[in-house]
Amino acid sequence: MQTLTLTRPDDWHLHLRDGAALAAVLPHTARQFARAIVMPNLKPPVTSVAQAAAYRQRILAALPAGSDFTPLMTLYLTEATPPEEIERAKACGFVHAVKYYPAGATTHSEAGVSDIGKCRAALERMEALGLPLLVHGETADAAVDIFDRERVFIEQVLAPLAQRLPRLRLVLEHVTTREGVEFVESCGPSVAATLTAHHLLYNRNALLAGGVRPHHYCLPVPKREAHRQALVQAAVSGSAKFFLGSDSAPHARGAKEAACGCAGCYTALHALELYAEAFEAAGALDRLEAFASFHGADFYGLPRNTARLTLERAEWRVPQALPYGDDVLVPLRAGETLNWRLKA
Ligand code: DOR
Ligand code: ZN
Repeated sequence: MQTLTLTRPDDWHLHLRDGAALAAVLPHTARQFARAIVMPNLKPPVTSVAQAAAYRQRILAALPAGSDFTPLMTLYLTEATPPEEIERAKACGFVHAVKYYPAGATTHSEAGVSDIGKCRAALERMEALGLPLLVHGETADAAVDIFDRERVFIEQVLAPLAQRLPRLRLVLEHVTTREGVEFVESCGPSVAATLTAHHLLYNRNALLAGGVRPHHYCLPVPKREAHRQALVQAAVSGSAKFFLGSDSAPHARGAKEAACGCAGCYTALHALELYAEAFEAAGALDRLEAFASFHGADFYGLPRNTARLTLERAEWRVPQALPYGDDVLVPLRAGETLNWRLKA
């Protein structure tokens, strides 16, 4: 196959940041995707509909002229989120989900949730209104091995939550383990998961073997090869429960190449090409369109896109670095060759 034409895809998990960083990264996403679920982990976090409305305006203002990209906004769940804010979110029309960060689990999660029991009223309102909860599924318990944090979180928090609120729409974001896949498959249609390109392509050797590779460091950390294979199987299975969420998470080069480097892989530049590589390696390029363009829209109750785009088999070199405000940003696979390219 030399070209692959797809319905224009959406990115169901994306970090756009703000200010100069936003202006630097947004054109990459807008070129590939029609819509994206925008994470609310700014500083300060986007906890109210009023803040989400202002952030949405800043995103729209930063779009390249002529772009029809639509940001789908989210709220950052805190232990103080009132059920009335959930009602305002559902009513406003531009907030599509609420993000649950266990406090301390990842970048800018300090304002997140330590005790999900304290969010009961907000979650019950979300269940009643059908507003999805997007979950960073890792325990923040420092005593738990970092490679076990997803599994332990599912056992201790997520499975009980799904039992208590069986109609709550849940997305286990950036699932990285076989146990995560099995959990999602064991639940009804109200529970789904996003998969990143980097977790489909890489296991933990890519992070640690032969030297520490900070541009492969993200959270949840990549796991063993058996887990990566389970993720690929889920992605290419055709199950509507699994869809594209790049988790593209830009950090300036100095913040990644540091004694204590930040978590996040930058893939907005070439997300679709990376997913195509992963699907092709699994012999499943014919399954890419549903994963990238149908399942997410269906889960969120939004219309599927109608425009189309084409990937061609053509080698190109990923830039070593990209402008990022006054700084630079190193994309995943910097300096390496990719075999698929999005046609202009
Ligand atoms: O690798 C990650 N980067 N994981 C997250 O959960 C947050 C994200 C970020 O915001 O940089
Ligand atoms: Zn993320």
